[in-house]
Amino acid sequence: MGTLWLGLLVLLVPSQLHSLPLLTTERPGPPAPSQDEVMFAKRYLEKFYGYGPSQSDRQRRGAVSPATADDRLCAAVKQLQRYFGLPDNGRLTPDTLALMRKPRCGLSDVEPFHNTWRWKRSTLSYRISSYGPTASVSAKVHRAFRRAWRLWAEVTPVRVRRRSRRDADIVISFHHGDHQDGSPFDGKGGALAHAFLPGDDLGGDVHFDEEEDWSFNSTGFNLFAVAVHEFGHALGLPHAMDPGAVMYPTYSFLPDLRLAHHDVQAAQRMYGINPKYASLFYKRPPPRTPDKCDPNLSFDAVTELQQEIVFFKDRFMWRKYPTSDEIGISLIRGLWPDAVPHNMDAAYENVEMNQLLFFKGSQYWVIRQLNLMAGFPSNISDLGFPPRVQAVDAALHFRFAHLTVFFTGTECWRYDEQQKTMEEGSPAPIDQQWPGVPSHLDAAIFYKGFVYFFKGGFQYKYDPEVKYVISRRPAGHMLGCRGVPE
Ligand SMILES: *[C@@H]1O[C@H](CO)[C@@H](O)[C@H](O)[C@H]1NC(C)=O
Ligand SMILES: *[C@@H]1O[C@H](CO)[C@@H](O)[C@H](O)[C@H]1NC(C)=O
Ligand SMILES: *[C@@H]1O[C@H](CO)[C@@H](O)[C@H](O)[C@H]1NC(C)=O
Repeated sequence: MGTLWLGLLVLLVPSQLHSLPLLTTERPGPPAPSQDEVMFAKRYLEKFYGYGPSQSDRQRRGAVSPATADDRLCAAVKQLQRYFGLPDNGRLTPDTLALMRKPRCGLSDVEPFHNTWRWKRSTLSYRISSYGPTASVSAKVHRAFRRAWRLWAEVTPVRVRRRSRRDADIVISFHHGDHQDGSPFDGKGGALAHAFLPGDDLGGDVHFDEEEDWSFNSTGFNLFAVAVHEFGHALGLPHAMDPGAVMYPTYSFLPDLRLAHHDVQAAQRMYGINPKYASLFYKRPPPRTPDKCDPNLSFDAVTELQQEIVFFKDRFMWRKYPTSDEIGISLIRGLWPDAVPHNMDAAYENVEMNQLLFFKGSQYWVIRQLNLMAGFPSNISDLGFPPRVQAVDAALHFRFAHLTVFFTGTECWRYDEQQKTMEEGSPAPIDQQWPGVPSHLDAAIFYKGFVYFFKGGFQYKYDPEVKYVISRRPAGHMLGCRGVPE
C-alpha cells in the first residue's frame, strides 16, 4: 500500500504544478456590494474614519482640485483596510464589510488625540449616574468597574475611586439612541460604548449603549471587557492598531483579559510608571502581540485562502496576498465568527466545496462564506480517525487530487475528499511517506508546486517530485522575514 501511495503522489504533483496559472480564471471576483452595503459602509466611514463632505472639505481646504466622491470613499476604505491589516485595495470586499459589521467602540479610529489630553491629577473620582438594564445587578456592575480601573491603576500612578458626589471627574451612564452628546447609539451591535477625553464637564465620561445585551461572562457583551477599553479612553488613550491591545477598536472577549504590552506603554507614557509595576509584573509581563519576524515564532496552522496564504498564531493571523507585499496582522475574529477557535491545531481550504476547515483538539469547524456551517463544530472521528487520535498537528490539502493529508505525531493519514473516507493504508509513518520531514509538525501547505512544512522556528520546503527537503528557513520566511541565513 505504501508504494502505491508514493507513486500516486509523484504522478499527481506535476499536473498540479502545471495547472496552477489557470487558477486565476477559476474563481469569480468578489461580488459587488449592494446599495445597502454601500450606504452602511459610508455611515461607518463617516463615523470612524472622518469620511464625508464636511469633514473632507475641512481637511482639503486649499487643495487644488477637490477629489471626487468616489476617490474620497476609496481613500477612506483604504485607510480602514490599513488599520485592520487588510490589503488596501480601496474596495468594499466581503472581508472589509465583515469587519465593519463587528461590534466596536463608538470612538473614531483617526481622531487626533494629543498627549495634552490627560488628567493633571493622579487621584480621580467616578460615579455611576444610571445603570440602564444592569440596575438589578448593580453590585456586579460595581465590581466590574472597580476591576477595570484597577488594571490601569496597576501600571500607572493613577488612582480612581468611586464617589457618590455629584462633582465626580468621570460620570458613567447607560443610554440609548440619541442621548444629546452628538454621538447617538445605534441599537443592538455596532457601537457598544464611547467615552470622552479627559477634561471638564463631559470630559472623561463613559456611556454604554443600553440596548446591548450586557453580561458578566462570555455571552452578549462583557461589561468588564468594554469598560477596560472605555476607561482607557477616559484616561486619554487613543485607539491602537495593535490587534493584541485592549485599545484595538473592535470588541473581543477573553476569559483572562489583561492589558497588553502596547496598552501599558501608552498609559505609562502619559502618566508614568506605578512604583509597584516591576514587582507586580515581574513573573507575568503584559502579553506582546506576536511579531512575524521573531526568530522564535512558530505557527499554529497555515492554509491557502483563495489566492492568499494565511498564517495563524494564538488569536491572530497574517494574510499574505499575491498582489501586495504589505502583510498586516489581524484578529481571527475580525473576519470569521467567534466560534472559530484560537490556538488552533490545523486548517485547510477545500476549494471545490468552497469551505475552510479549522481543527483544534478532537473538534473541527467548517466555515463557508464567512459563516459557520450548521452542525459544527463536529468530532474529527467523523473523518475516520480512530478514538486514539485526539488532535491533528497539520493538514495538507491537494485541490486537484481531492486529497487531504493529515499529520498526527509520527503518522500521516490520507483523506479522500470525494469518497469522504480515509484511504486504505492510513495511517503510514511520516518518515516513510515524506522523507526528511520532521514528525510532530505545526503546519503544512501545498503552494506553487512545493510543500512547506512548519515546525518550531523553521519552515521546511519539500519538493514532492524528488521527495526531498530542499531548504530549511525561518518560519516567517514567506512573510518576508529573511532572518539569519543558514
Ligand atoms: C452568563 O450569565 C447569564 C446570566 O447570569 C446566564 O444566563 C448564562 O447562561 C451565562 N452564560 C455562560 C456561557 O455562562
Ligand atoms: C528565543 O527563545 C529562547 C529560548 O526560549 C530565548 O532564550 C531567546 O531569548 C528567545 N529569543 C527571542 C528573540 O525572543
Ligand atoms: C470525539 O470522539 C472521541 C471518541 O471517538 C472522544 O474520545 C472525544 O472526547 C470526542 N471529542 C469531543 C470534543 O466530544
